[in-house]
Amino acid sequence: MANIFTTSIGKKLIMSISGLFLIIFMLLHTTINFFSVLDAFRGTWGAEDGWFQLGCDFMALPVVNVMVPVLAAGFLIHIIYALILSIGNFKARGGVKRYEVNSRAKADSFASQNMIWLGIIVLGFIAFHLTHFWADMQLQEFTGGEAENPYMLLERTFGQWWVVALYIIWFIALYMHIGHGFWSALQTIGWNNMIWLNRWKWIGRIIGMVIVLCLTTVAIVSYIQANGCCCGC
Ligand code: HEM
Repeated sequence: MANIFTTSIGKKLIMSISGLFLIIFMLLHTTINFFSVLDAFRGTWGAEDGWFQLGCDFMALPVVNVMVPVLAAGFLIHIIYALILSIGNFKARGGVKRYEVNSRAKADSFASQNMIWLGIIVLGFIAFHLTHFWADMQLQEFTGGEAENPYMLLERTFGQWWVVALYIIWFIALYMHIGHGFWSALQTIGWNNMIWLNRWKWIGRIIGMVIVLCLTTVAIVSYIQANGCCCGC
């Protein structure tokens, strides 16, 4: 058992499982956020029985709230092992001169060579993001306060174009991180025969693309809601 924490493959396995867990979280998170877009089209934006509001109410249920420390642990484990593996790789490849001795790395995709940097960008933006939503919703509930109206938070956050632009940069980094991370995780787990490896690559790209397109739509629709519709409606 000690081996899983110390061997290189054991550490990669921990990265893979925690990464797949975070992708499942992102799919749920994106689905609930996308309800806000459906609300805008259904005319239930801001309504008490709006789908996004119901999704947020669901996320506030005690049975879901107990998952918050599990989610936080998933993030922490993923980040800590990413750093451990990256530092190990860096040393093994001879520090800053690593690209001179590793010709295989040149053939790898941009994402595979820059997973740690993409991860750092994703993480940095999560901190920024939590101040926009989580701090005024779940944190308020945890500390005995009252959660803010989630539609109002969408409008307040995405009402400024430059915040939308920053979020889109974040989503692109997330797309690249998931696009490589998904198939890489399945390869580590051992599902890597030639036929399936190619399929996992495509499935990973599609998952990343769906997440990014849905979240971008949420940000743009929220911007439009905040600034008034330009078509006179
Ligand atoms: C348009 C994009 C997004 C919107 C509108 C959005 C919305 C929200 C909202 C409303 C919450 C608070 C939920 C609550 O307290 O009940 C939240 C929390 C959170 N978001 Fe996002 N989110 C977006 C993108 C992302 C992305 C791309 C990530 C990760 C890469 C992410 C990670 C998190 C995390 C870790 C939390 C705290 C856990 C939770 O409360 O569920 N979010 N987000």
